[in-house]
Amino acid sequence: MAKRFQAPKGTRDLLPPETAVWAAVEDTARRVFGLYGYREIRTPLFEETELFARGVGEGTDIVGKEMYTFTDKGGRSLTLRPENTAPVCRAYVEHGMDRQPQPVRLFYVGPQFRYERPQKGRFRQFHQIGAELLGGKGPESDAEILLMLVRFLEELGFLKLQVLLNTVGDAESRTAYREALRSYLLPMKERLSEDSRRRLDSNPLRILDTKSADEQEVLAGAPALADSLTPDSRDHFGRVLSSLDAFGLRHSIEPRLVRGLDYYTNTVFEIVSEGLGAQNAICGGGAYESLIAELGGPATYGVGFAIGEDRLLEVLPADSPARRVVPGPVLVAAMGNVAEQVVEGVRGMVRIVERLRSAGIPAIESSARGGRLFELAERLGSPFVVFIGDEELAEGSYSVRNVSTRAQERLPVEAAIARLRQSFP
Ligand code: HAM
Repeated sequence: MAKRFQAPKGTRDLLPPETAVWAAVEDTARRVFGLYGYREIRTPLFEETELFARGVGEGTDIVGKEMYTFTDKGGRSLTLRPENTAPVCRAYVEHGMDRQPQPVRLFYVGPQFRYERPQKGRFRQFHQIGAELLGGKGPESDAEILLMLVRFLEELGFLKLQVLLNTVGDAESRTAYREALRSYLLPMKERLSEDSRRRLDSNPLRILDTKSADEQEVLAGAPALADSLTPDSRDHFGRVLSSLDAFGLRHSIEPRLVRGLDYYTNTVFEIVSEGLGAQNAICGGGAYESLIAELGGPATYGVGFAIGEDRLLEVLPADSPARRVVPGPVLVAAMGNVAEQVVEGVRGMVRIVERLRSAGIPAIESSARGGRLFELAERLGSPFVVFIGDEELAEGSYSVRNVSTRAQERLPVEAAIARLRQSFP
């Protein structure tokens, strides 16, 4: 027996009819983001490894253990993109977008790759819908992009979303806080996991993100990041909050939210949905004030988010407009001696189904008969079956049968086409 293959671990096939929901979610993103002036960017699926090492940060889980890195035949170290903010900023610098009118508003939809342990809502190839606002003004940009994000999610039917918000301060605030946290944790080092002990040197803020109850207990008395904020960072956060209040956008402040990528400054946020629990955010984002400069561009304010589309779909409300069923193709069947001959199997039939398609009606020919034909129609979601028999052929009509009611009408061809069209707006 020949070997049978499976999709690699952590990846999966997205199949119909589910793919129609994915497409509808993405169409909604394009439409809503378009309302805010965002335009699409498509970056390569792989980049120079160093882009992520520098952009996302050496000390992060993503760079430290989750990247798909390989050497190509030319000896270059390349990495399948684990996220798309660094690539978008790379493109901004590479194409001199800083010389365009600012801010530049970009969105993207596409797969990302992280070598993580697969579990519910976590894949090695996953999909993000994201947006970046580059060259904006700071707090107002943060609020603008959050407003768009929430509108998008509401249009998908989400009502009970929680926007969790925090500030990680500017570089100066964080240096101060890193020291404060390290001095607090050092005497309790023994109670920390191996991972956290390593982070104590490399990235102590990430320890705040711990899921371990024991470590959370250790952290209970830790100094708060808010106490290390510089006046600038404090002011920034205050202005974000007042803008959000002005827009009536509900949010809660989550002092422990730090996010797992190094480029963030000041505002960070996540959106969690009830279905997935707090550990599985459907969306994460924040501001980054030095990333573009670190990638060789001019000092540029950036803020953005990425939604995990796989997770979004898992918790997509049952009544979401994106779940609206897309009707399947009309099935066309020839019946009767003359018809089967005249329609002449495939060739004559092609002319008939092509006529329907030209009128904007999805249609396929079927050789199934009787119960099998309707079984197929139901499986494909076809609203109608069209029969062409001897009489229909003689008088230039189609018999149109409604698959759900099984009611049948014989109509002149033009009228039949008009009737069918109503199901395909
Ligand atoms: P992130 O938090 O690493 O941020 O990822 C954003 C979202 O992608 C997560 O909230 C989650 O829904 C989804 N996600 C991440 N890893 C996986 C996985 N293994 N399987 C399924 N879904 C996953 C970023 O990627 C930043 N680039 C976001 C950003 C844009 N910040 C500023 N601009």
